[in-house]
Parts: sequence; structure tokens; C-alpha cells
Amino acid sequence: MIRPSGQPPAVFPHPKHSSLGILRIDQEHLALLRTLDGLISRPDIQPHSSEFSEGFSILTRQLLEHFANEEAAMAAEGLSPAALEQHVSEHKQIIEQLTQLSFDLMARKPIPREHLVESMHDWIVGHFSAHDLELGRQGDPA
Ligand SMILES: [Fe+2]
Ligand SMILES: [Fe+2]
Repeated sequence: MIRPSGQPPAVFPHPKHSSLGILRIDQEHLALLRTLDGLISRPDIQPHSSEFSEGFSILTRQLLEHFANEEAAMAAEGLSPAALEQHVSEHKQIIEQLTQLSFDLMARKPIPREHLVESMHDWIVGHFSAHDLELGRQGDPA
């Protein structure tokens, strides 16, 4: 478990294996999951509300900072240049989607809440499960 006991259950199940073995990065993943849970566990918060905007800005800031830190940590852990380049490109794709969605929100385009939830989940839990964990295992064969 990556949540201390006593906290409410996550809206989405968190990945079973949650550690990359790099403390700062593990903590950032936890912080991202908490922000995500906070946003999507409140169905009453609609996409164009100020509450959603505030949460989305926090998530964006955390995610951008996290990607930069994670790339630096993976380089420091000796990840191969090809694998690192591939991972950076995965991050870039997420940043592009996030930027587009931010513009759409600012332009007050109608965006279904489900689409936002799915996107945020993909960027955080999906990317973590599909890409981060794999790199964590390469960096720590034990
Ligand atoms: Fe990550
Ligand atoms: Fe990543």
C-alpha cells in the first residue's frame, strides 16, 4: 500500500508496485495521486468551476516539476540514453495534451468531466504503470 492506513480509499486503485526506489520521486508520485484523488473524488466539481481550475493548476505544476525531476533522477541512475529519450518523449506527449486541454478550458469549450478525469488518470496512473515502473526496475535490478 502506498497510502497510510486511515485515509479514504482512492477513487482509482493505485498501482500495486508503487516504488521506483528513488525516495524523492516516490514521494512526488504519491503527491500526484493525492491531488488526482482530490480532484476526481468530487463529482460536484465541474470543469469550468474555480475549484476545478485551482486543482487543475496544482496538478499541472506538480506534473511539470515531477517530469523534470524524474528525468534528472533517471539520468543520474544511469538509464541508457535511448531509454531516457523515449521516456522524455512520453512526458512531452503528456505535456502537449495537458497544454491543449488547458487552452480548451480557458476558452471555456464544453469538455465532459469524464474526459478530463480519464485524461488526468492516464497522465498519472497510466504513465506511471506503463512507463515509470519499467524504468525503476531497470535502474534497480534487485
Ligand atoms: Fe513519474
Ligand atoms: Fe515518467
